Amino acid sequence: MYIVPSSTAYNVSRKLASIFSCNVSGVVRKRFPDNEMYLKIIDDVNGEDVLLVGNTRSDSDIVEYLLLLDAIKEEDPKSITAVVPFFGYARQHMRYNNGEPVSSKVFTKAINQYADRIITVELHNEQTLDYSDIPFTNIKIINPIYNYFKNKNIDFVMSPDDGGYERVKLMAAKLGIPAYYIDKKRIDSTTVKMILPEEDYGDKNILLLDDIISTGGTIMKASNMLRRSGAKNIYACAIHGVFANNSNEKIEKYVNELAVTDTIETKYSNITVADEIAASLKSKISI
Ligand code: R5P
Repeated sequence: MYIVPSSTAYNVSRKLASIFSCNVSGVVRKRFPDNEMYLKIIDDVNGEDVLLVGNTRSDSDIVEYLLLLDAIKEEDPKSITAVVPFFGYARQHMRYNNGEPVSSKVFTKAINQYADRIITVELHNEQTLDYSDIPFTNIKIINPIYNYFKNKNIDFVMSPDDGGYERVKLMAAKLGIPAYYIDKKRIDSTTVKMILPEEDYGDKNILLLDDIISTGGTIMKASNMLRRSGAKNIYACAIHGVFANNSNEKIEKYVNELAVTDTIETKYSNITVADEIAASLKSKISI
């Protein structure tokens, strides 16, 4: 088996290679004079089971991922598993207004042309799974986050919106503490109203858990409300730390700790998803 790493997921690629004791292929990356991307897989993946591990966070990431998929397919491997720790564009999983594309469908269909299966982590919405004609697995990350927070004396787990309530309920059940969600209502495209459930937050340690932190607006507003209500320690955690426009620098001022997984590599990636991806892979291909 070979792992081909895109430039967006070296760490997860290396961890998977160590778990499976398999090779990570070298990839030559250059830019043509007009800035178009040039890629070349160095190792011979003919007849091999190949994992292409990479994210689709930016437009350039997507081009890289698709070019690598084609490069692998041209070598006639035994199988291709598309491992996408952070599946970008997944928040546009439906048409909200006329004239819009269904972005997550576009990328799913593109991968379908090349791969035998897709494995991703905590999709924003599972509707995206329905756009695939090949097996598409969405891994939920509970245990690694539980292990990270189990000794921090958390009093309760809170989702910043009702959409994440199932996730925090699972986490709270493992920790043996209550779960809550903040009532978040979008007033217009720029205004969001958030109402905290009526609880005693005084001197409490609260784990704020979300699927993604992008601009940080949601997590900062929630943290601010909890702080004003007397919370002692606020731990902000998300699966995917996108941190648009370096929002992490602002978020740090609102919380006691910021922790994310390594689906996107950041300095806050204290929690790895590699073991969960590996467990999912073991049940799908004979390794
Ligand atoms: C919303 O549905 C998501 O679960 C996140 O809460 C949201 O996408 C976070 O975005 P931001 O960090 O820009 O507030």
